[in-house]
Amino acid sequence: MTAFDDALPRRAFLKAAVAAGGTAALSACLDRLGGGEPVPAGEGAAAHPDRQHAWNDHVRTDEYGNHLLPSHQVLLYLSLPGDGPPSADARETVAAALDTLDEAYAWSHEALLHSAGYSPAYFDRFDAALPDSVDLPHPTRLSNFETPDFDEQDVLVHLASDRADVVLEADAALRGERAGANGVEMPAPLTDALELDSRRTGFVGRGLPREKADSLEGIPQPNPVPESSPLFMGFAAGFRKNQASESYVSLDTGPFAGGTTKSVGNWRQRLDDWYGEQDHDERVMEMFSPGHAAENLVEEAGTNLGATSQVDRFLDDITEQATEYGRVGHAQKSARANRDSEGNVRLLRRHFESTDGDVASLHFPSLQRSIADFEAVRRAMNGTDVTEATPAVRQRVNNGILEYIFVRSRGYFLVPPRSLRALPTPTGPADADG
Ligand code: HEM
Repeated sequence: MTAFDDALPRRAFLKAAVAAGGTAALSACLDRLGGGEPVPAGEGAAAHPDRQHAWNDHVRTDEYGNHLLPSHQVLLYLSLPGDGPPSADARETVAAALDTLDEAYAWSHEALLHSAGYSPAYFDRFDAALPDSVDLPHPTRLSNFETPDFDEQDVLVHLASDRADVVLEADAALRGERAGANGVEMPAPLTDALELDSRRTGFVGRGLPREKADSLEGIPQPNPVPESSPLFMGFAAGFRKNQASESYVSLDTGPFAGGTTKSVGNWRQRLDDWYGEQDHDERVMEMFSPGHAAENLVEEAGTNLGATSQVDRFLDDITEQATEYGRVGHAQKSARANRDSEGNVRLLRRHFESTDGDVASLHFPSLQRSIADFEAVRRAMNGTDVTEATPAVRQRVNNGILEYIFVRSRGYFLVPPRSLRALPTPTGPADADG
């Protein structure tokens, strides 16, 4: 039996096929879909939005206008062979491969959304430095109790679609396992210029975490994940009003104006005590805030919250709440650093769940104007001031969800505007520097 055996329910089968990848998975997927609906063709790179992260207007929304990220997601971490800046040939190969995706697929969740980002290690290959308008340090530890591996590969390609066959086909074409995508020939695969270091996958969808939780490391049995939940931890996330807009996270000056920075972490989850030792109200306190539990704001997974988690009501007296209830919420701690002086949200979180390696984990891509914004919010999640204010809250106990999640890797990337997405130089276009 393959990992994507035909006996699996449809959604679980498609998810497993994406996780496995390759041409066998793609054919199995096409067989299962019976050929499937035709995939809308693209209009070409010039006609697709200049912002590679312009996804919100091109995905489904729920009844409250919250954006529903594409169901199937693939992250390809790639590196240039050798040292030094890329050759003109490599740049041409990358440009043509990515342009092929825009020819082949409409910019839509029904076809393909994608982006290419570049790490600080990539920009170190050049003599010139990145301009001040781009804040892109090397990844670092953000608490004294975490030990992530750092993803210092040069390039991160992100593929996302509601169709499993589309992400599989695009992925296979980029890696040279298929001659083209959606009927459009790929002049040369991306992997002619870049070596694939790591392929990671994940999924988005209410009910999917429960479907996948039966024999997964990190999830206790019997399966406790609620049917209605889009996350292994049992709650909904990404409410519209708790997210930055795409324009807010876009760089507004310099050669990469229109681009953004992207931080991607992977968080392993160990949920025995989350489900075994706590009831719904206690989980609500630790995920949102004690006030959310006291006021019964969160029914089941919390989709009743609509377009906002309402966390802003519970930020001012956070240490008083923690002293009274002996717990502090993940959302309330993080939200404190996630507003600018005018109250705008700073981060656009686009996380999705994963069963890579048969372990329950969450890939956490976050877009923001500067990596410093991400680091400030992530550090606020440590809740250090709360641990100092009340003995009940310790480094990893009663401190949001820190007892149950463990960061395994972290990488930082610049996602340039589409026009500069093929092996850019620190000053933008290729003719400016090598
Ligand atoms: C397994 C890991 C994680 C899970 C299951 C999770 C889940 C959630 C949920 C359910 C909420 C409340 C609803 C919402 O506003 O979206 C939330 C809020 C939030 N999370 Fe996480 N999260 C995780 C990791 C992280 C990490 C690593 C960060 C890093 C910065 C983060 C940053 C935030 C922020 C900033 C908010 C509050 C949004 C606001 O400002 O209102 N989360 N998270």
